[in-house]
Amino acid sequence: MSDALHALIERLEGEHCLPREDYRALIEGQTEELAAYAAEKAVALRRRIYGDEVYVRGLIEISSICKNDCLYCGLRRSNGNCQRYRLSEEEILACAEEGYHLGFRTFVLQGGEDPAFSDEVVCRLVRALKAAHPDCAVTLSLGERGRESFARLREAGADRYLLRHETADDAHYARLHPAELTLKSRMEALKDLKELGYQVGCGFMVGSPYQTSAHLAADLKFIETFRPAMCGIGPFIPQKDTPFRDFPAGTLEQTCFLLSLIRLIHPPVLLPATTALGTIHPLGREKGILAGANVVMPNLSPVAVREKYALYDGKICTGEESAQCRGCLERRMASIGYRIVTGRGDVKNA
Ligand code: SAM
Ligand code: SF4
Ligand code: FES
Repeated sequence: MSDALHALIERLEGEHCLPREDYRALIEGQTEELAAYAAEKAVALRRRIYGDEVYVRGLIEISSICKNDCLYCGLRRSNGNCQRYRLSEEEILACAEEGYHLGFRTFVLQGGEDPAFSDEVVCRLVRALKAAHPDCAVTLSLGERGRESFARLREAGADRYLLRHETADDAHYARLHPAELTLKSRMEALKDLKELGYQVGCGFMVGSPYQTSAHLAADLKFIETFRPAMCGIGPFIPQKDTPFRDFPAGTLEQTCFLLSLIRLIHPPVLLPATTALGTIHPLGREKGILAGANVVMPNLSPVAVREKYALYDGKICTGEESAQCRGCLERRMASIGYRIVTGRGDVKNA
């Protein structure tokens, strides 16, 4: 292992920040040994704050209808092969009810930017969820909605909002999205969410088309300054009906290394070992936890719609019932010495 890179990991562990060029050097100098060293430091930091606890979130995929056309995503509006569905309010509440009995205390409502989920509808949903389960947190992941809308949803009781920044580089953002979507507006949305008192999650795909080490260094710098409560990173995985069908998927090794670096940058961050990571490797989520992640998000959507929420090819857990995924993750975490806990799993102030 290079002594200089070794020293950068130690500096990151102590100071939680590095110059952008040093992030880049770490990314370019990644070796198995360097990654193992970073993971060891990341896991020690995470243990100090969260012990052996892994938080679970019940993911409810409420709609595969999207008005946007992000080039990487199977739900993009131009994809004529995507099977569209929209869950009713009753169906969503029933998923949460089942989840509550399975021990979930956080529900994540995620979907395409579907105009049917107006402020009125989502506010009603959030209020109904909170009324049924006052001890639960509600997380929304419904894309960009504008400050007024975010404010209304917050007032209705939403606790958290996940909105990945996707890439912190303007030109790269423009290669992943159509012209009407800009990094400027994404960053403003993230700032608005924070000001409105949400626990905010940003994040990006690892190995997305055209991504360079300089882009990833910019992502790390952004996380260092924005200090999100949550950070969702997972490998890019091609979807056969998108313009990016022929690009390679991101790797397990790079995703795990970045999970470790993010833990070192911002020790209390809630960091999921994502379904995408579990899709590119059978033990992806376990390896993510062992690199410094501390959250898993099993699927609570009705089995009948799961295949239709096809962001990328090969997505796991499309045939399993919610209880099966919950049990499966429980066993997977136990197999590596961690334990899933029943609770809201809020971010801790370290
Ligand atoms: N529509 C909302 C949004 O874009 O924030 C929420 C749903 S969107 C499908 C959630 C995340 O899926 C995106 O932020 C993106 O990073 C990820 N995603 C989309 N297509 C992907 C792909 N092909 N591979 C891996 N992740 C993907
Ligand atoms: Fe729609 Fe989100 Fe997919 Fe973009 S990433 S097309 S906003 S579902
Ligand atoms: Fe869904 Fe393992 S988590 S089957």
